[in-house]
Amino acid sequence: MNTRVIRIDPLVPDAAALIPAAQALRRGEIVAFPTETVYGLGAVWRDPEAVREIFRVKGRPQDNPLIVHEASIGRMRQYFRSWDSVAECLASAFCPGPFTLIMEHKENIDSPVTAGLATIGVRIPAHPVAQMLIELCGEGLAAPSANLSGRPSPTSGADALEDLDGKVPYIIDAGPCEVGVESTIISWVDGKLELLRPGGISAEEILKALHSQGLNIPLITEDAGRAADHEPPRAPGMKYRHYAPQARVHILRGETKEAKLEQLSRSAAEGILGSRPAFYLSEAIREKAMWILEGQNVAAFELITFTTEQAHKAAAQGLFAAFRAFDRSGCSDIWAEEQSLQQLGAAYMNRLRKASAQQHESLRNDY
Ligand code: TXA
Ligand code: MG
Repeated sequence: MNTRVIRIDPLVPDAAALIPAAQALRRGEIVAFPTETVYGLGAVWRDPEAVREIFRVKGRPQDNPLIVHEASIGRMRQYFRSWDSVAECLASAFCPGPFTLIMEHKENIDSPVTAGLATIGVRIPAHPVAQMLIELCGEGLAAPSANLSGRPSPTSGADALEDLDGKVPYIIDAGPCEVGVESTIISWVDGKLELLRPGGISAEEILKALHSQGLNIPLITEDAGRAADHEPPRAPGMKYRHYAPQARVHILRGETKEAKLEQLSRSAAEGILGSRPAFYLSEAIREKAMWILEGQNVAAFELITFTTEQAHKAAAQGLFAAFRAFDRSGCSDIWAEEQSLQQLGAAYMNRLRKASAQQHESLRNDY
């Protein structure tokens, strides 16, 4: 299949340029498109054959449900069996945005998107190109991240093309994603509010929104930075290997800059950095880290830095792109700097922990 890339300026999106992709979707084909979190691989959710094609192209296990992307809160509500003050509060606070709501679906919803579950996840992407595409299709789009199984989620059109060239008719390229990690998934089922995946919206923001409406419901979270590998899966997808580059991933730990640099120095002295190490560091420790490595005669094979200002956000935004870049240059080991679990730090550490922990396990394929 010949994959056509449609380049669209996200600031002034040209609807006419999107029409061929919208038509392809309406014909039952699948299309990669940008969202503010990561690129998605979309199909019209009502078209079971098209949805199955997503599973096939990604190599995604059938028991792992997909998120439906919608254009408005009014349309989002249509999927759910009921809509209460909690749903209303969360949707009005975080939709559109990097936020997915999972609740029980209406009885008549019968689609491979749910993987047979009684619940469904719906989100409203904030990206203008995603919104325009959904509008042009006139239907919600089922879309997982646009990576092949086992690869980090794509955060640019080029990264989506790397995985999907020749496998899909269209990739809509609107440049790099703003958030860089996937949406936060909240499940509100049987009176239990659970954070299933930390993402672009923090647990603190969610609690704040609920409290501001007098809704004092506890939010069940696991420590977002802890690897959940030995626990029963919460989101079905959590049991699959994901986010992982080919290189081995290590976390450069420490509560302070000094502690992180000390770990680096020790690891270099012990000769455990790997044959072709790569580093994902904040600007704040870059120079000292390079000085330490030089002193130990370690040639940094690759180095990617993120800004110190709003470091949580910057670290999360560039993580998957860095994983892919390091893999392309054949790095053996990736050393990524720890961030505290505040704000986007929770999502960043969650992805990093999974990428580093899972390499020591033989898990089934990713989603
Ligand atoms: O930001 C995002 O959410 C991106 C963009 C493209 O929107 N999408 C994304 O989709 O990350 P995916 O399929 O890669 O991850 C969706 C996760 C999976 O872990 C899946 O198991 C979980 O959401 N999920 C979907 N529906 C669910 C449900 N009804 N109950 C529990 N987990 C669900
Ligand atoms: Mg994914």
